[in-house]
Amino acid sequence: MKKTLSYGMVGGSLTAFIGGVHRVGVDFDGRAFLKAGCFSQNEAKNKECAEFYQVDDERTYKNFHEMAEKEGSREDGIDFVTITAPNDVHYEAAKAFLENGIHVLCEKPLCFEIGQAEELKKIAEEKNLLFCVNYSYSGNAMVKEARELITSGYIGDVINVNAEYLQEYLVDDIGAGDQVMVKLSSWRKDPAVAGISNCVGDIGTHIENTVSYMTGLKLKRVAAKLDYWGQPLDLNANILVEFENGAHGVFCSSQVCVGHMNGLVVRIFGTKGAIEWVQENPNILYVTLKGQPTQIYNRGMGYVTERTAEVSRIPSGHPEGLYVAFANIYRVWISSILKLKNGEELSGYDYDFPSIDDGIEGVKFIQACVKSSKNDAVWTEV
Ligand SMILES: NC(=O)c1ccc[n+]([C@@H]2O[C@H](COP(=O)([O-])OP(=O)(O)OC[C@H]3O[C@@H](n4cnc5c(N)ncnc54)[C@H](O)[C@@H]3O)[C@@H](O)[C@H]2O)c1
Repeated sequence: MKKTLSYGMVGGSLTAFIGGVHRVGVDFDGRAFLKAGCFSQNEAKNKECAEFYQVDDERTYKNFHEMAEKEGSREDGIDFVTITAPNDVHYEAAKAFLENGIHVLCEKPLCFEIGQAEELKKIAEEKNLLFCVNYSYSGNAMVKEARELITSGYIGDVINVNAEYLQEYLVDDIGAGDQVMVKLSSWRKDPAVAGISNCVGDIGTHIENTVSYMTGLKLKRVAAKLDYWGQPLDLNANILVEFENGAHGVFCSSQVCVGHMNGLVVRIFGTKGAIEWVQENPNILYVTLKGQPTQIYNRGMGYVTERTAEVSRIPSGHPEGLYVAFANIYRVWISSILKLKNGEELSGYDYDFPSIDDGIEGVKFIQACVKSSKNDAVWTEV
């Protein structure tokens, strides 16, 4: 029985943001090892990262095409690839690895066009390969608790959603300011690299996925007003949403809200109660049943659902955060690939990682928001 896997990474040089979070997430459970990479198009940075992580010279590649082909044809080739390069790389890289028989875990947003997303899905299905799109907040224990409670009917039928993802780091792009508090790569503001949206594509899409994961609801249409303030891509978005079950909601995503760092907050309102999760305090969940005082559920306590207990790693009161959310996604992802390799069928929680269908919904959401905003916030089908 195979018990460990090897993996490769595209992007994620030592100075990159999210590649390092992935490596820690994989390392949490010690069941997959970094054996190959194309960490940067910059040769020196690529080599520096490979040396740091002791990736062999012959498995440090100049580009992802070469990496996909060579790894796909090696006896000991990588089992999966993690794509952490910017958005413009996702589609071509994912396609190259799928075509060479390698499972793909790709960062969000999946790609630029629905056609590309559906093509990736088709190749993955034809080759019986798994595909994860890293909507990382779904890996949080208390997001899973919210999902378990809401989908079991604990707060009744969902009738309204109010969710926001607020950051401040681009506020100085309005006007001529030059003080940028947090250094995130500037490609996010370049349509050739980021795609048709910055704010909705980078963080609004996390709202869409987290709400969908918690509630199981699918978006039907949006009425969005995006603000650009003279920039090529949006910095702020106020979005009315309607779900297929008739529920409504408001999503607000912004990179110009002074005082907010990474403020993802999701409030779900049902006919019998309400649930609220705050990303910057991710170990608790506010649960209110109609007519009763609000309860604060703590991760790691005996009263949480079985699923939440399974994914909690340390006792309550010890904060688990983003790294553990990634680790939880990788735990399921790696177990599922191992099962497939050992000839076992997947079922139930084996699929509890954000899938290519989630990636497709994300691309549709971004496109609908941009289209709606261009048409004076008219209701637009997702
Ligand atoms: N899921 C999340 O919570 C989350 C958080 C941050 C970023 N992201 C996503 O991750 C991706 C990367 O974001 P980031 O902030 O880490 O960007 P970054 O600019 O910090 O890092 C990108 C890395 O990719 C490398 N790269 C660029 N083109 C490449 C290519 N063709 N081949 C190999 N390497 C290449 C760069 O050299 C760099 O090392 C984006 O798609 C972003 O949306 C997701």
